[in-house]
Amino acid sequence: MQTKKLIIAISGASGAIYGIRMLEVLKDVKSVETHAIISTAAEKTIKFETEYSIDTVRNFADFYYDPADISASIASGSFLNSGMVIIPCSMKSLSGIVNSYNDNLLTRAADVTLKEKRKLIICPRETPLHKGHLELLLRLVDYGGMVLPPFPAFYHSPQTLSDIIDQTVGKVLDQFDIKHSLYKRWSEG
Ligand SMILES: Cc1cc2nc3c(=O)[nH]c(=O)nc-3n(C[C@H](O)[C@H](O)[C@H](O)COP(=O)(O)O)c2cc1C
Repeated sequence: MQTKKLIIAISGASGAIYGIRMLEVLKDVKSVETHAIISTAAEKTIKFETEYSIDTVRNFADFYYDPADISASIASGSFLNSGMVIIPCSMKSLSGIVNSYNDNLLTRAADVTLKEKRKLIICPRETPLHKGHLELLLRLVDYGGMVLPPFPAFYHSPQTLSDIIDQTVGKVLDQFDIKHSLYKRWSEG
């Protein structure tokens, strides 16, 4: 079985737990190699919003990169991989990506993902959204990215916050053809 290399970035939007859960789930999936970036702002949201230490989150990943290290392997198109997800994605990172303002490894790796025509998924988190945010999202889609907002579904009758988080994480994994049982599909009743 060929290993899938996935770049997973956690930016400083609210909802760091989505990215953490994604790394936690994938640490037990042998066919997926995770390459993680945690932005400087995300270190703060992880501390504010969760019980996880930064080291624990870093250790979930197979490879971890400093967001300031723009010379890391994932900053180059020559690093072959199956794509990248930014979960959650702040409006600042979204803006950086859409404008190719590559002043950190997160935006650079995302820009590279787009230019190499690999799959780039962002899970944006902000509310309400002004027209500028919406225009940035539209431009991202125009450039080949996918917008997968962490909007919960209710048809699978979520009982806990974990059910809601796992559903979004599962929707992202679906996009990368990674098998999971994180949420009950409609066809499963
Ligand atoms: C507790 C907390 C929650 C935040 N929530 C959001 C959010 O939901 N969406 C957003 O765009 N920015 C949010 N921010 C602001 C970002 O962290 C800030 O814009 C930061 O510069 C983003 O940097 P990054 O994209 O490099 O991680 C939040 C900040 C804090 C401290």
